[in-house]
Amino acid sequence: MTNTNLTGKTKVLGSTKKKSGNLDIKNITISFGKGSDKVTAVENINLSIEAGSFICILGPSGCGKSTLLNSIAGFVKPTSGNIYLDAKEVSEPGPDRGMVFQQYSLLPWKTTFENILLGPRLAGDLEATEISERLLSMVGLAKYRDHYPSQLSGGMQQRVGIARALATQPGVLLMDEPFGALDAQTRNFMQENLLQVWSETGTTVVFVTHDVDESIFLSDKIIVMGSNPGQIISQFDNELPRPREQELSTSKEFIELKRKCLDVIRTESNKAFDFQNLN
Ligand SMILES: Nc1ncnc2c1ncn2[C@@H]1O[C@H](COP(=O)(O)OP(=O)(O)OP(=O)(O)O)[C@@H](O)[C@H]1O
Ligand SMILES: [Mg+2]
Repeated sequence: MTNTNLTGKTKVLGSTKKKSGNLDIKNITISFGKGSDKVTAVENINLSIEAGSFICILGPSGCGKSTLLNSIAGFVKPTSGNIYLDAKEVSEPGPDRGMVFQQYSLLPWKTTFENILLGPRLAGDLEATEISERLLSMVGLAKYRDHYPSQLSGGMQQRVGIARALATQPGVLLMDEPFGALDAQTRNFMQENLLQVWSETGTTVVFVTHDVDESIFLSDKIIVMGSNPGQIISQFDNELPRPREQELSTSKEFIELKRKCLDVIRTESNKAFDFQNLN
């Protein structure tokens, strides 16, 4: 279990204990199918992600972002290479990794609170109730505790999804375009709320997006992927100050980083265009 304790009984931030949530991705390649149908979704991915950091994976559709995330989650086994979480090889899904998908995936017959509580209760966590209560208020839904998913907006459902994914106190939170279906204003609010929750839990976050602004607003580091086959083509450290608010997006530093990301993406899109045209 992580050093993070959402009940507040031990120190959440600035703990002197060794942090969990270190990811090491060693030369993974993932292919699907065989013979002429074989698709190599990602190739030779090497990545070290420090515990507690917020990483965004940015890239065009089909470049293997979800495949990479699913392999960290343990849903997809790499064809070659290995993934380690805190020096332990990942071979299957586990409570040490929480996942939030683009589609809201709450249990419709359970209330907001019951959805959050389910994971830690199944894991036999004695503090399941306290942790779930704490997360419920962190995502700002205390008033909606007994509502069912159908009574919540998309943004609210996704906040329940985030609270649920964090309820087993995972070392790593994996997020696959979680705000993709939301309108711009709700999305901004969700980004700020996520950063707040992240700063309180100290969980490592790996966040997939194809939105450059979103990746800059959220991350400590941006990993840019290209396609054919999916690989890492660039990495940018993002040292914009925290805490962050949306006004940051008009700052000189933000715009500079955005330009750098867009340059890489533009070159890659031109390559993809040529690739599709010549085949
Ligand atoms: N289960 C699968 N079987 C066969 N091919 C797959 C499978 N999953 C992914 N692929 C292929 O792997 C490649 C990468 O897909 P992936 O879903 O990881 O891309 P992505 O970057 O997440 O795209 P998007 O932004 O559209 O979600 C695509 O060519 C896709 O068709
Ligand atoms: Mg995807």
